[in-house]
Amino acid sequence: MNEPYSKRQISRICVHEGEERYNPYDAITTPIVQTSTFIFKNTDAIEGYTCRGEAHYEYTRYGNPTQTAAQKKLAALEDAESALLFSSGMSAVTTTLLCLLQSGDHIIITDDAYKKSLEFCKYVLPRYGIQFDIVSVHDYDAMEKAIRPNTRIFFSESPTNPYLNIMDLQRIATMLKDTQVLLLCDSTFATPYNMQPLKFGVDLVIHSCTKYLGGHNDLMAGVVMGSEKLIEEILKFHKILGGVVDPLVGYLLIRGLKTFDLRMQRLNENGMRVAQFLENHPRVQKIYYPGLPSHPHYEIAKRYMTGFGAVVSFEMDADLEGTKRFLDQLKLFRIGPSFGGAESLITHPASVSYYDCTRDERIALGIKDNLIRLAAGIEEAEAIIEDLEQAFAASV
Ligand SMILES: Cc1ncc(COP(=O)(O)O)c(C=O)c1O
Repeated sequence: MNEPYSKRQISRICVHEGEERYNPYDAITTPIVQTSTFIFKNTDAIEGYTCRGEAHYEYTRYGNPTQTAAQKKLAALEDAESALLFSSGMSAVTTTLLCLLQSGDHIIITDDAYKKSLEFCKYVLPRYGIQFDIVSVHDYDAMEKAIRPNTRIFFSESPTNPYLNIMDLQRIATMLKDTQVLLLCDSTFATPYNMQPLKFGVDLVIHSCTKYLGGHNDLMAGVVMGSEKLIEEILKFHKILGGVVDPLVGYLLIRGLKTFDLRMQRLNENGMRVAQFLENHPRVQKIYYPGLPSHPHYEIAKRYMTGFGAVVSFEMDADLEGTKRFLDQLKLFRIGPSFGGAESLITHPASVSYYDCTRDERIALGIKDNLIRLAAGIEEAEAIIEDLEQAFAASV
């Protein structure tokens, strides 16, 4: 059912799409137009821009050529009419929600969403008179029941963090068909390489480009993609709220995307190899990877995704201290949040993302002491597996 790009197309898009064939000074690369302000030759040029619809940039908060090139490349990758970049994934989420919701509206968000997106719904939106409901990613009846006459947005994530649950997006889109509710999907964990939510009835797709799209752990950016009409609406708010991507970051993103196809091939392969290794390891009690038949959403994942990414979560046979000992023995992996970059990273949700919760609160959210989330990098799978194996052995 999922019709991915052919590999030839996706490589072409990564390398060429969005960029000019001939650049100033005959440079092959897209220039980093590192300016806040664009000047006009004379007052007639201003009028040409403001009154006669002539193309011109004005001020980087309203647009910049490097940012435009990155946006076009991303839109082509997602097969979206339009894309809009932000200074971070969270800026994309918050600006989009603030634009599409107003006082008296209601939003539904799924419970396994990124913690800060949930916090925005819980702590920020109510200050502006916007109501929310959090529903279980597993409970489609509850999702349907949560829809109210004033519901405007259904916001989901797929795959989710850290359990890599996969949403049946078509089922939700069908549920919302005769309503005024827009379906938004944060698809950061999938990327357009592995899933294209717009093809399944999603209205807007959001990514943190900080992860796989940038791909080198060296930039912060976010993007929202969908119809020109919706993106135009969000752009109006974006110009006011101001979370724009810097031109240098726009360039780093273009540069990162050149190898997106190659990186994703390796990352999908590494994710699967590491997941298979962990599934069979005696020190692993439970594993969460949507590409394994043991994952509760394996069948849904196969319908929606063409690859399953590099993030693998697992619970090991250790208590809190034993789990920390394992992490401290790793030599190749670096301990840190995030994923989708060149370097293998590993994190301990109990002591990183949920450090501010009591143990009981954490456990109630399903975050056990022995839960680990790893993100394979682009190193050889054998090197990654060797490191895990030695750390298991050294931390008994
Ligand atoms: C699924 C998801 N959405 C959004 C974000 C926020 O992105 P950023 O860190 O670029 O603001 C993250 C960050 O980890 C994420 O994992």
